Amino acid sequence: MDKKNGFFITFEGPEGAGKSSQVRMLAEHLTALGMECILTREPGGTPLAEDIRQVVKSHHSSEPVHPETELLLMEAARSQHVHEVILPALAAGKTVICDRFYDSTTAYQGGARNLPLDTINILNSFAAAGRKPDLTFLMDLPPEVGFERIRSRESEGYDRFENENIQFHRTVRQAFIDLAAGEPERVKVIDATADIATISGQIRKIVDEHLR
Ligand code: TMP
Repeated sequence: MDKKNGFFITFEGPEGAGKSSQVRMLAEHLTALGMECILTREPGGTPLAEDIRQVVKSHHSSEPVHPETELLLMEAARSQHVHEVILPALAAGKTVICDRFYDSTTAYQGGARNLPLDTINILNSFAAAGRKPDLTFLMDLPPEVGFERIRSRESEGYDRFENENIQFHRTVRQAFIDLAAGEPERVKVIDATADIATISGQIRKIVDEHLR
């Protein structure tokens, strides 16, 4: 970690992995240690990027959303978020904890939508202004388990991604596992089927080691 700059932590994983709860619990832990934390998410994190989130997650019955369009919407939202929120917060020495970041693009638009990874890598880096997360937690679990959780908590129905078939979500999971294997220093795989307290304990331990 660059000591002059803030700490940038991202959470990734398939649907229903429990990322949001872990983001909150980690922020509470770091705040108690006296660190100033910003919690944010992708797609989203600014008013404009949240508008793009609505568009990209919605069903558009009159026309298909092409994978290329979906990729560019994700990157447009990211660029706005990175420049408006993430980079200024890191420059001010704050810790940024982000629920999804560019590894989701690699897994969803690269793995599951099958868009070329070299294009995705270039766009990820461009939209992130070259900034990489310092630490990424991959909350891994079988999609069947994730959907069981989503079913029990959501009444408003599935968004465009949740509505994809189980094979799509298996491909997403495998793409995340593959990218974690390629960057073991940055991407830590967490068994998201464990109970919430066990998981948060594992995450704290890893973060505390990085901060030391
Ligand atoms: P979520 O934040 O509720 O998980 O919803 C975000 C959805 O958007 C989720 O299905 C994953 C998807 N997504 C992508 O396909 N590519 C991306 O780059 C990001 C950040 C999210």
